[in-house]
Amino acid sequence: MPADLSAIRREFPILETRIHGRPLVYLDNAATTQKPTAVLDASRHYYEAVNANIHRGTHHLARAATEAHEKARGIVARHLHAGDPAEVIFTSGTTDSINLVANILPLSPGDEILISALEHHSNIVPWQMACERSGAVLRVIPCDEQGILDPVEFGNLLSPKTRVLALTWLSNSFGTINPVAAMIAAAKQVGAFTVIDAAQAIPHLEIDVQSLGADFLAFSGHKVYAPTGIGVLWGRLELLRTLPPWRGGGEMIKEVRFEGTTYNEPPFRYEAGTPNIEGAIALAAALEFVNRIGITEIHTHEAALIRQAAAALSTIPGIRLYGPEDRAGALSFNLTGIHHYDLGTLIDQMGVAVRTGHHCCQPLMARFGITGTVRASFAVYNTAEEVDALATAVEKAAAMLG
Ligand code: ALA
Repeated sequence: MPADLSAIRREFPILETRIHGRPLVYLDNAATTQKPTAVLDASRHYYEAVNANIHRGTHHLARAATEAHEKARGIVARHLHAGDPAEVIFTSGTTDSINLVANILPLSPGDEILISALEHHSNIVPWQMACERSGAVLRVIPCDEQGILDPVEFGNLLSPKTRVLALTWLSNSFGTINPVAAMIAAAKQVGAFTVIDAAQAIPHLEIDVQSLGADFLAFSGHKVYAPTGIGVLWGRLELLRTLPPWRGGGEMIKEVRFEGTTYNEPPFRYEAGTPNIEGAIALAAALEFVNRIGITEIHTHEAALIRQAAAALSTIPGIRLYGPEDRAGALSFNLTGIHHYDLGTLIDQMGVAVRTGHHCCQPLMARFGITGTVRASFAVYNTAEEVDALATAVEKAAAMLG
């Protein structure tokens, strides 16, 4: 457990909220995390004292805002162990990041894009659209009953035709941690570009893009205690320098003439238009919050809570847990004969917030013959008492609905 969990909880004002007269038990962190005062203060301070457009003005505030924004880029780069801050492209979130990379990679008819059965829609649909544009073909690594990707099938699917491997690091539905470094290394052997969806990895796992070996990595700020509407696409600088831009507009240009335009250097080449300046600054504050506690500490604390939840829920008759035992971040389950939506609605009445449904993973749900699950997902501020409250609420709901 982090040294002082009560002190950490006090940094999140929303945790004081009461829901239906009961203390809030917020276990929907894979959907979005709550925000600590350091992040709220960073946003407020930006608008109260710094707000101006960046990279455009010579006046004092314009320079201060530009400096704060680029300082934030440096903090993100350090958090990811990136070789250069220019590798950090600010986007609106993971979805935006994956759409960006899916639109700039060179693809030809017959090329194969390899994804996995565990992917979120945001790491499926942009690639399907890329296939429609280019004539490339989508291939899918299957998973077993535990939600673990099949390593033999992965090996069989890899070939010189594989142009892209786009893979989630950590499944938002089942909490499966994929062996991404080994899979990236195998994909590199066949000359594929590698793209990692780190939307769920960012709040739970140490990320070192240099040792990971991927070409691109995407994440959203709001999954890691920052506001919505800010995210990152990290890309290898030598690739970003040669790949074309996607969106056109201000900031991404060097010179515009009606006869033609020359493009800016990365990262600005990929940041057309006025960016989410406050979001980038607040994201940096969120990563500093994470680093103040320590990502290993956070992961260890959450892993203990997930093990406790799995053990407690397993005793409820008719329960089915999904995902491997060493899951991270999220725990999905269903109760025989009870719709996940009904279960989720009833436990909300007891103050417990979880997500129900397909979690934007319809193909994964179809693989398991279900329409959805109930998913509890964890963050640094969750407690063993909250896990007890979850188990009690599910038990009571099961008795009422069963
Ligand atoms: N991707 C988010 C989730 O898993 C929204 O809930």
